[in-house]
Amino acid sequence: MSRTVEILPDVSSIAQKAAAIYINAAQQAVRERGVFRVAMAGGSTPKALHAMLTAEPFRSQLPWDKMQIFFGDERHVPPDHADSNYRMVNETFISKTPIKPEQVFRIKAELQDTEKAALDYEQTLRGQFALKPGELPRFDLILQGMGNEGHTLSLFPGTTALRDNGRLVVRTWVGKLYTERITCTAPVANNSAAVLFMIAGADKAPALKAVLEGPFEPEQLPSQLIKPVNGNLFFLVDSAAGGMLSKARSGSI
Ligand code: 6PG
Repeated sequence: MSRTVEILPDVSSIAQKAAAIYINAAQQAVRERGVFRVAMAGGSTPKALHAMLTAEPFRSQLPWDKMQIFFGDERHVPPDHADSNYRMVNETFISKTPIKPEQVFRIKAELQDTEKAALDYEQTLRGQFALKPGELPRFDLILQGMGNEGHTLSLFPGTTALRDNGRLVVRTWVGKLYTERITCTAPVANNSAAVLFMIAGADKAPALKAVLEGPFEPEQLPSQLIKPVNGNLFFLVDSAAGGMLSKARSGSI
């Protein structure tokens, strides 16, 4: 795997760089397999990327009819709820593009039973990626954010979702938020062709330093679990989040 860490001035420069990575991944996937399968992220940082991708000069470079949109995780709310990751991605990205409903695969977090929602999404992935038992999906790209305590996707510190039990998607109780979430597991992220973290804000600086430069303690810092085995890992961070890093590094690890 190759890991690239880039410190950029602000969220808009992160979005600019991320758009180039997104378009490269899309074009390469379509050239090789005729389809681009991407998992979108929740939170607020990706909004700038969405705005960029849906406008020129990027818009006309994306193979819109050959894209399949998935989600890395979801909050336990219906799709029209203000906290829904699907709602955010739909409002800032999907609804502004020619992507058709049949190209979008969302997590059914409106279900009361989050285990059912997780199993349902696992089935969706198994079907769409035509997986045999034991196989993992290979996304062309997964977008991820990071919380200021080192969580990514909905893989929170100290939660059962961090255990590798062969599942692609799990429900997870996040005590500190007094809620459940549904999330793809680390092995799914690690089987993808590329993972792109977009991280902004000074509150994330200590956790980012610990994730990248501290001891390997993924129970504390779940973002450390993300290491695509045969893919590229990108950290695009703003100068506030990257403020404690010893240096921006590029290269193979
Ligand atoms: C979510 C996310 C989560 C998010 C980080 C960063 O549903 O909240 O999937 O992992 O990416 O918390 O969020 P921000 O971009 O808002 O800082």
